[in-house]
Amino acid sequence: MILKVARLGHPVIRAQAHPVDPAKIAAPEFQRLIDDMVETMREYSGVGLAAPQVHLSLQIAVLEVDHHPRYPEMPSVPLTCLINPIVTVTDRAPVDEWEGCLSIPEMRGKVPRFRQLRVTALGRHGEPLDFIADEFHARVIQHETDHLKGEVYLDRMPDLKSLSHLLEWQRYALTPGK
Ligand code: NI
Repeated sequence: MILKVARLGHPVIRAQAHPVDPAKIAAPEFQRLIDDMVETMREYSGVGLAAPQVHLSLQIAVLEVDHHPRYPEMPSVPLTCLINPIVTVTDRAPVDEWEGCLSIPEMRGKVPRFRQLRVTALGRHGEPLDFIADEFHARVIQHETDHLKGEVYLDRMPDLKSLSHLLEWQRYALTPGK
């Protein structure tokens, strides 16, 4: 089922999300929620979706990049579900790249993110995950885990001057031939 996406201004987008009780992960309702989040992310061509974006203040995020129309040159990221993620920055070198957000529709902004992270979390069946994410993968995880803290990419922009409406961005910010 495709879920309704909350936009910036809805209080759930600015709330600190609650940890998931690991004992509840196996429940059919919880598994259905993960399926619905994945379906919603794909429907709206997102590379990630956090539970607060579907009006649930829970520490859950899904991500997937597979020859994405918005980021065709970016390396693929397999479908991943992160429950109660903990992120440790392992390389603080800033990398600038454009971001958008399903909760801030039709906008793009240039956001600095850390280059590399270590991520520990529970997977969709409660299995422990522990991995290193680099570059664009690290960016998507920073964007989604910010949502779990009530933060959005605008908060990470040191300079709002790159903030662009999607149509103007396509016209002026994307290099020709891209
Ligand atoms: Ni977002």
